[in-house]
Amino acid sequence: MVEHLQHYEIISSKKVVEVMETIDRALFVPDGTPAYVDSPMAIGYNATISAPHMHATCLQLLEENLKPGMHALDVGSGTGYLTACFALMVGPQGRAVGVEHIPELADSSLKNIEKSAAAPLLKEGSLSIHVGDGRQGWPEFAPYDAIHVGAAAPEIPQPLLDQLKPGGRMVIPVGKISQDLKVVDKKEDGSVTVRTEISVRYVPLTSRDAQLRGS
Ligand SMILES: C[S@@+](CC[C@H](N)C(=O)[O-])C[C@H]1O[C@@H](n2cnc3c(N)ncnc32)[C@H](O)[C@@H]1O
Repeated sequence: MVEHLQHYEIISSKKVVEVMETIDRALFVPDGTPAYVDSPMAIGYNATISAPHMHATCLQLLEENLKPGMHALDVGSGTGYLTACFALMVGPQGRAVGVEHIPELADSSLKNIEKSAAAPLLKEGSLSIHVGDGRQGWPEFAPYDAIHVGAAAPEIPQPLLDQLKPGGRMVIPVGKISQDLKVVDKKEDGSVTVRTEISVRYVPLTSRDAQLRGS
């Protein structure tokens, strides 16, 4: 899978190759689901595990903000796959925080992570998964060098902008039917720039009730 992503020039970073080879996607997809096919897969509760090329794209966009010792927030952490990748990149001196609003998904993501190469970081406490509304971020470990949002927001939530560190980067899909992956950079003086990377298709960043109703 990783070779395929390199072949199609989705991944050019050695660090991203290393982390995606170390965190085995097979541990994060539901039993019986093909793990290495480049497409999103249903994980229940109207949610999906994102396609490998989207995981790779987001890891590459955030690579400079996932150096050892940095703080990373994964909003809508779902299966925990990207939170585990972030934890490996920021290492034991850093902090990788996942926020997921479906408690059952948060529980199963912890089980997935426990089977993965990121298990020691979960045990030591530099990786944590929390149940909550990710639109509010997770102030306890803010400010964050990197924020990834795994579901599409109608607009960029202000609490996430507030929790982004000066010099930090957020990658977030924005839009309803037509969505763009936005790259949000906060400069050292606190000013913010936003650019569009690619068009994407994500499940909505919404309330738990709206998601479970499928609306
Ligand atoms: C595309 S899915 C999972 C993405 C995750 N990166 C993965 O690959 O496993 C998006 C996730 O966002 C969650 N979600 C949606 N709205 C949310 C909110 N307001 N707060 C927290 N999680 C939310 C969904 O439950 C779902 O698990």
